[in-house]
Amino acid sequence: MRVLIVGGGGREHALAWKLRRDDPTLELIAAPGNPGIAELAECVPIAVGDLAALEQLARERTVDLTVVGPEAPLAAGIVDRFRAAGLPVFGPTRAAAEIETSKAFAKHLMVEAGVPTARAEIHTRVADARAAARRFGAPVVVKASGLAAGKGVIVCRSLDEADRAINDMLEGNRFGAAGAEVVVEEFMEGEELSVFAITNGTDFVLLPGLQDHKRLLDGDRGPNTGGMGAYLPVGLATADVEAEVSRIVRRTLDALHAQGRPFTGLLYAGLMLTSDGAKVVEFNCRFGDPETQALMPVLDVDPPLLALMSAAARDEPLPRTAGRTSGACITTVVAAAGYPEAPRTGDPITLPDTTSETVIFQAGTARDAAGRLVTAGGRVLAVSAVAPTIADAHRASLRAAERVRFAGSHHRSDIGWRELARHASVDAGAAGD
Ligand code: AMP
Ligand code: GLY
Repeated sequence: MRVLIVGGGGREHALAWKLRRDDPTLELIAAPGNPGIAELAECVPIAVGDLAALEQLARERTVDLTVVGPEAPLAAGIVDRFRAAGLPVFGPTRAAAEIETSKAFAKHLMVEAGVPTARAEIHTRVADARAAARRFGAPVVVKASGLAAGKGVIVCRSLDEADRAINDMLEGNRFGAAGAEVVVEEFMEGEELSVFAITNGTDFVLLPGLQDHKRLLDGDRGPNTGGMGAYLPVGLATADVEAEVSRIVRRTLDALHAQGRPFTGLLYAGLMLTSDGAKVVEFNCRFGDPETQALMPVLDVDPPLLALMSAAARDEPLPRTAGRTSGACITTVVAAAGYPEAPRTGDPITLPDTTSETVIFQAGTARDAAGRLVTAGGRVLAVSAVAPTIADAHRASLRAAERVRFAGSHHRSDIGWRELARHASVDAGAAGD
């Protein structure tokens, strides 16, 4: 079987690694890939936005399945194009991908479908948006409706801050066209959980939930980023929560179907576990990054991932199954100097030797003219460590992240802190018995 992976980040490296681990005979092509992926796949230098060249590659190489990593080619209609050409592809059409690419569309859909989510208003005029912020009261959340690389969401502690965010988006053009429409919504209190569903539009298979860490600094301080680390299993993801998530996914898929935009591929539900139950923060139309780097090393699902993705891409029925984890995994992202505002590139990287419990997924890396591995993006790589317990996984991930060397490298040292605290209090409770 020959599989084409579209993308060149840590998520795509992790997918390539998992597919090859499940089937060492698998033939993998990546476009454009990266130096890490090049150890597992043939990398072809085609940009993810060059849909015509990607289609030609899939045809010429008689690819059996194309797996699309990032949202941009999905938003540009790669799936519509491949489907029209009769090429099996895992991902949603452009219309279905709007669940991620338009927060306004997603909000309307959730309200219609009865999917629990924060109360919200959608506005294009400053005065209306400000009035909405006052109706909700601080803290309040202001979001650019369109794609903004995970940075178009401002959690505002005060109405002043909300006014500034609204001005920046609607008048200051801070996020370009993505911010021409804003979603103003009530602040939800709770812990976040990311859940992936593989779906053919009707049937779906849920994978184990993970927790991402969006803030740059330890203690969840500093600016929002694309994600500085992730872990699983998450103690709060109980069977009850799983049942709630299942209902949310069911209603969302049915609503998309009813609108004539059936969703095939990977539906990512970003949830807030509130005292009032699980509520949707956002949907994404693709695997999460860095959640995928944490999930792949411990994902246990039968039939295997590739079979599920292949069936979904071909509109075949999916078996009644669910993903499980074979241990704990903590992923620590190592970022470049200047990330997230202005990451510096071109710094030579030295990687530590990996052990049986660690794996490094490359993201913003490249080879320079001399063939040296250098930084080439904000999130440079991710170190995933697998262990029987979350505490051991944390130690191993941190140790390996500290041994990654390049000028200006930085990483969080507290990935999984909520889970570690939960376990510490359980252990302390047990010790006191
Ligand atoms: P999003 O891009 O919509 O996932 O938002 C990015 C981050 O902002 C989320 O992961 C949350 O941490 C936070 N966030 C977004 N919406 C809300 C909300 N209504 N209440 C609290 N936090 C939120
Ligand atoms: N980790 C969040 C995302 O992939 O959007």
